[in-house]
Amino acid sequence: PLALTGLAATLLTGCQQVRQSLTIGDLSSGYNREIFWMSVWAIALSIIIFIGVSYALFYTVNKFREDKHDAPPAQFHGNNRLEVILVVVPVIIVVFLSVLTVRSMARLNPNINADTQNINVLARQFWWNFSYPEAAAAAGGVVSNGNEMIMPTRQKVALTITSGDVIHGFWAPNIGGQRAALPAVKKTWQVDIDRAGAYQGNCSQLCGASHANMRYKVVALDQDRYNTFVTAASAYRAPEPAPGSAEARGYTLFMQGKTETGALACAACHRVQGTPAAGAAGPDLSFFGTRRTLGAGMWEAMTAEHWEAADAKVRLHEWIKHSPLVKPGSLMPTYDGSEYRVNGKVQKGGVLTDAEIDDVAAYLRTLQLPEEADYWKGTQ
Ligand code: CUA
Repeated sequence: PLALTGLAATLLTGCQQVRQSLTIGDLSSGYNREIFWMSVWAIALSIIIFIGVSYALFYTVNKFREDKHDAPPAQFHGNNRLEVILVVVPVIIVVFLSVLTVRSMARLNPNINADTQNINVLARQFWWNFSYPEAAAAAGGVVSNGNEMIMPTRQKVALTITSGDVIHGFWAPNIGGQRAALPAVKKTWQVDIDRAGAYQGNCSQLCGASHANMRYKVVALDQDRYNTFVTAASAYRAPEPAPGSAEARGYTLFMQGKTETGALACAACHRVQGTPAAGAAGPDLSFFGTRRTLGAGMWEAMTAEHWEAADAKVRLHEWIKHSPLVKPGSLMPTYDGSEYRVNGKVQKGGVLTDAEIDDVAAYLRTLQLPEEADYWKGTQ
């Protein structure tokens, strides 16, 4: 009895661990719940079959032991009833598991309707861009941002996933399993999550030198916060820096570069909503100052406190100065004149002074959504 009580206690207190070991993510996601319950059924049936087979085996071995019988037991050829059972029972089990599987597939299949929110996911070496068709329709243009995906809670979200270069993998374990991001192919996938929060996302397909540095955040916001984000994002126009300020000098460098030293304009590759910057070769920087991650998740400490403590500023300075040295395979040019490689070919970057780099960083810092639309605030 003591052993049984102990086992029961272990099973009960172990429930949380069992749940965690059966799913790789959070059960507040509809996708993970489907996977969890299918695993529970499959494992429960396996346990029943294991017990049945073990019992039959030990029963037979014990009952027909040689030392219990003087003569060999009765000999049979064929048993119709047993054979029917041995065919029908496994067929029922397989059909039952197939029905569960098909039902889950139907539930998880994109069923896009007016209530579904849409997010387009673009994977590139080595960053992500997320764009929001609903907000874009309201804005009459593109609404997107790099490396931080904002989604509503308690609602179906249809992701349309593609790649701009090689094969990548979209994988945020807390919202569901992995989906390949394929060049020239758009895959739709429906996800949902009940609990607001910030969740880790990764690239799950080896895709080059900085595969490990191709991370993103999924920020799930409760409906009212999400609506505030969409409204603010569609109305967003990057603030205009005051004439003569560091931000204004940064703005000019951002838009025009510095031809005499070969420094390419940031706007050639990056987009900032509400400015002439419309480049698409790099991540969208429209809400850069609201983002808390830098370099596709390489640093996760770009908060106001870290800006005050100046370490965020140092990170960003280093990043602008020579991104390919900080992140192998980054296609962003260097701005300290150092050499870097693009597809094996040696390139030489342009030159900005440290003060000019700080001006660009100061400008980037101003690219913030209004306070009430700061999506990170909805995660705490
Ligand atoms: Cu993209 Cu690995």
